[in-house]
Amino acid sequence: MVKKVAILANGGDVSGFNAVIRAIVKTAEQNGVECYGFIDGYRGLLKNDYVALSTSASRTASGILPKGGSIIGSSTNANVFHYKCVEDGQVVYKDLSDICVQNLKDDGFDCLFTLGGDGTQKSARDFSLKGVNVIGVPKTIDNDVACTEITFGYNTAVSVASDALDRLHTTGETHHRIMVLEVMGRYAGWIALESAIAGGADVALIPEIPYDINKAVEKINDRRNKGKNFSIVVVAEGAMPKGGDITIENTRDNGEGVDNTKLGGIGNIVTKQLEKLTGLEARCTVLGYMQRGGSPTAFDRVLSTKYGSKAMELALEGKFNVLTVIKNGKLDAVSLEDVVGCNKEIGAVSGNTAQSNLRKVTMDDDLVKTARNIGICLGD
Ligand code: F6P
Repeated sequence: MVKKVAILANGGDVSGFNAVIRAIVKTAEQNGVECYGFIDGYRGLLKNDYVALSTSASRTASGILPKGGSIIGSSTNANVFHYKCVEDGQVVYKDLSDICVQNLKDDGFDCLFTLGGDGTQKSARDFSLKGVNVIGVPKTIDNDVACTEITFGYNTAVSVASDALDRLHTTGETHHRIMVLEVMGRYAGWIALESAIAGGADVALIPEIPYDINKAVEKINDRRNKGKNFSIVVVAEGAMPKGGDITIENTRDNGEGVDNTKLGGIGNIVTKQLEKLTGLEARCTVLGYMQRGGSPTAFDRVLSTKYGSKAMELALEGKFNVLTVIKNGKLDAVSLEDVVGCNKEIGAVSGNTAQSNLRKVTMDDDLVKTARNIGICLGD
């Protein structure tokens, strides 16, 4: 019998975190279960820093459905299985996961809900092997968590990007320019591809299809020949030229067992190349964290609520060590083992790396087919 549960939100924030928290708390309250939230993700679990969550007027989980961010914070770069510590002035990495397990035991938590992307769910699975009852909820604007058709936060990011494209359209058309929009997504092109379709872009460059810049130039020139002196180009931050590599803005601290690379810069590179090769003026906009902040779309509010209530439902049924997913359009649950895929080693590097089991755009996806059918150039 589940009586007391805790939630943590981990990794880069998204719109919808609070909607999931609220749904878990509401479903818990309906079933007489006490709810708590660890502050700043796995870091809060390590420090045993948590707050009570309830929907009574004075408590935090009330009125948060439309609110961006996370009322219990979130942390990136916090792999407690390989945690950065400083000892005698030296940086050392330690497995502190047993402290977390003990914290949960000491305070009588029956289940831990982990709201996060692939890195968060990797640690969740590692905790499950240490006997913790865990239930994951798939978050990320990148939409790249394995085993689910959609993550919460993604729809809002696409909506922000397509709104940006509408705005770039009018200014691009007025000044006869090529307008390039760099969007997030790390190693997956979901945001770029879907916003390109939603925002009527002419070119979309995604990590899954290494591009030939001359193909984009052909598309832009073709439009010019038809009397259209402006073009809209979406570039995923992880896009790369054929035979080339991704563009890295910087590499943060090394070795802490989470992904350290900050992608970025490809938008400006593509813009300069297009300007040179087409002779048209080109401008770049990097959309950045706009995609993660602010109020969730109605779609994300509903998806997050479905995910949160399903997660609590699973806890009440005693079905642990799973991730809530959408499969064939319906709520479901899959084992965390399936989610981590071949990234099995406990405490191994987590968070969107080459080892991660990510869901990327496949060439037979409807979005790819649709984009090609309507003449969006994918750079190949
Ligand atoms: O994974 C979500 C995401 O927003 C990516 O799209 C982006 O590359 C990354 O996080 C940025 O991370 P940070 O918050 O560490 O700068």
